[in-house]
Amino acid sequence: MPPPIDYSKYQTAAAIPEASSMIETFRAIGYNIETAIADIIDNSISANAKNIWVNFEWNGEDTWLSVKDDGSGMNNDELIQAMRPGSKNPLDDRNSKDLGRFGLGLKTASFSQARRLTVLSKKPDYASVYWTWDLDYVNQTGNWDLIKYLPENFNENSLSNLPSGTLVIWNDIDRVVKHFRQTDNAALDKFLFIMELVKKHLAMVFHRFIESKRIKIFFQDNEIKPWNPFLPAESATQSFGEEQLHNGKVIIKGYVLPHKSKIDEETYKYAEGTKGWNEHQGFYIYRNERLLLAGDWLGLFRKEEHYKLIRIQIDLPNSLDADWQIDIKKSVARPPLIYRDQIKNYAAKVRSQGVEVYRHRGKTVTHSNGQKFIPLWIDHKRGDKWFYKINRDHPLLDIIKNQAKADPDKSIETLIRFIEENIPSKSIYIKEAEEPEAQGKPFEGIDQEPIRKTMQTMFESLIKKGKSQQEAKAIIANIDPFNQFTHFLEFL
Ligand SMILES: Nc1ncnc2c1ncn2[C@@H]1O[C@H](COP(=O)(O)OP(=O)(O)O)[C@@H](O)[C@H]1O
Ligand SMILES: [Mg+2]
Repeated sequence: MPPPIDYSKYQTAAAIPEASSMIETFRAIGYNIETAIADIIDNSISANAKNIWVNFEWNGEDTWLSVKDDGSGMNNDELIQAMRPGSKNPLDDRNSKDLGRFGLGLKTASFSQARRLTVLSKKPDYASVYWTWDLDYVNQTGNWDLIKYLPENFNENSLSNLPSGTLVIWNDIDRVVKHFRQTDNAALDKFLFIMELVKKHLAMVFHRFIESKRIKIFFQDNEIKPWNPFLPAESATQSFGEEQLHNGKVIIKGYVLPHKSKIDEETYKYAEGTKGWNEHQGFYIYRNERLLLAGDWLGLFRKEEHYKLIRIQIDLPNSLDADWQIDIKKSVARPPLIYRDQIKNYAAKVRSQGVEVYRHRGKTVTHSNGQKFIPLWIDHKRGDKWFYKINRDHPLLDIIKNQAKADPDKSIETLIRFIEENIPSKSIYIKEAEEPEAQGKPFEGIDQEPIRKTMQTMFESLIKKGKSQQEAKAIIANIDPFNQFTHFLEFL
């Protein structure tokens, strides 16, 4: 540490943050409307709300949106404190259930979407209080001054049916409805589409709170149903044992979702979520059961089609925010370096099982009744290359061998058909994606005598048919796979 400075010895000068540029900084933190509203709801949950109402009214550019809760509410002093940017020190210890951290969310989330933020709040046995941030006013005056203003459609009694609670109102929502005219139906459709995304996002982010009946969220008076990424109620969902990290403070649990053939169409659509199956693979990081990150491999793996059934839950407490680099928007988390290997190893186990389910359409290798699954193709490694062979113990081969005694042509045709129709393309595709250059070539790394012999036989039969040696070699050099063995030609 550098030696302390004796401040009394030095001249000072005030350098107060300039309001207009500070505002633009707040606005640029990178929320979208889904994450912004979720951040407002975090505050309601931290204030012990049981019911949360998200409402909006389409009025073109004058559209408003509100989040009301029946939580503990605030008195005048508390509300002014809450309205201050940086109202809490991020380094303070928080109640273990608190979803907040930086003392910024209410302001930054709101300003990211709207230029006017009004908060009306009421504590039990107190009168309602309200204050408004108006960014145009802050800009004009250069001062961070709240105004005592309530937008139309609202009044001091807007919370009077609740013993306590808070109402957050956004007006001038320029990030969403700028230049939208109220009579423009296309604009309205766009707006409603965005609101639908918000609803789905909330169903996902707060699903554990909704499932456990700790909260209800109403969206335009319709109760939001939870969206659970892991399909725990489906019998074909495979779940893995939990593993603990960080002295048991962090818990990781993997799921392999059912193959499409094992669930009905509706469930398949449901599990698609907001981003689709492929994008939804990966880790799901929860902080105090609130979902921060939905489907992200945290830079440990790439997203790939054949891993799309894998979703892994990671549960964090709010005491590890700094270690996991939780950001202001609560949409980024990074595992500390020391846990990366453990997380990666755990995920690798779940991923290899997930690939099996994807490949074999959910057929488990051994069924519960003891019946073993019999593959037609077996993939195996020779040296560092992958090869695919027909399972010599497959019952089909016995049938074909028997058939061959009576009708060799027909049985060979049957065999070829079975091979053609069952090319293990998924396995090949997966291997290729994971280990490019690891696909073996014909007869690579083994005795090539069978291929040389076949070339010899073909050569002799061409000569018999009257071809010159030159011609015969030219024909063979153009036949797959002999074209890959032209070095044998000179010995023919
Ligand atoms: N809906 C609400 N009910 C009660 N108190 C609230 C509500 N919203 C915000 N507050 C108060 O305002 C403070 C600041 O909120 P916010 O800016 O979101 O930061 P943080 O959530 O990180 O504390 C909260 O810590 C809380 O005390
Ligand atoms: Mg907050």
